[in-house]
Amino acid sequence: TQDVMTAREVVLEDPDAVAQWTADFLLEKALSARGVFRIALSGGSTPRKLYALMAEAGYADRFPWSRTEFFYGDDRFVPAESADSNRGMVQSILFDHVPVPTKNIHPMPDRGEPDQAARSYEADLQQAYGGNTLIANKPLFDVVLLGLGENGHTASLFPRQPVLEEKIRWVASCVPDDAPHTRLTLTYPAIASSRHVLFLVTGTSKAGVLGRVRAGDAAEPASHICSDGEVVWIIDRGAAGQAEGK
Ligand code: 6PG
Repeated sequence: TQDVMTAREVVLEDPDAVAQWTADFLLEKALSARGVFRIALSGGSTPRKLYALMAEAGYADRFPWSRTEFFYGDDRFVPAESADSNRGMVQSILFDHVPVPTKNIHPMPDRGEPDQAARSYEADLQQAYGGNTLIANKPLFDVVLLGLGENGHTASLFPRQPVLEEKIRWVASCVPDDAPHTRLTLTYPAIASSRHVLFLVTGTSKAGVLGRVRAGDAAEPASHICSDGEVVWIIDRGAAGQAEGK
């Protein structure tokens, strides 16, 4: 489970404050990065506010889009136009509204055979790092954004799935037994190869699972997320169990 020395928590008032704090963090890190800034995006509903904020004037005109490479932490194995596609969600909320070069966006494959698709995305990742050699001690990602599902999953690292045991490969397919769609996901080692892992968790419905993960409950897949750099929990009062009136 996470080394508590490299995990920190930021508790904010509400989901808007979580989006704002995260947008400011990403802008500061991207602007201060030398050369290419690489980020893996999360899906689901929580990050929608963040992506909308990043598309707004005042932010979109300051972010270094042309030297940022955008990857996905996971996606459902559905066409981009499907309402369930993380790629489609990010494209419509963010990428359609900002001057990001198309070549800088690396969506996960959404067709073919899942394991083959995982292999090809891994090759895409390696290609983005100048062929098969990783630049000495440079992590894969500057930032990995993650959410937290109520069953303790993050990215598409779902309970009881073989992908939780993957220690070598960076990308794998996953067929959750309690969620729709086959998924492609970054694995634990790929997510760990990062400077900053940012968990965005909001709402009272997440307070239970967040409490278990923050206590290091090994039964929760998200408890095993590590980073070569830091893990930052960016949460609102609802998820922190500090809902109004307490
Ligand atoms: C996905 C996400 C997934 C998500 C959690 C939380 O593809 O669904 O990557 O890991 O972060 O399920 O989802 P919500 O933000 O919708 O609660």
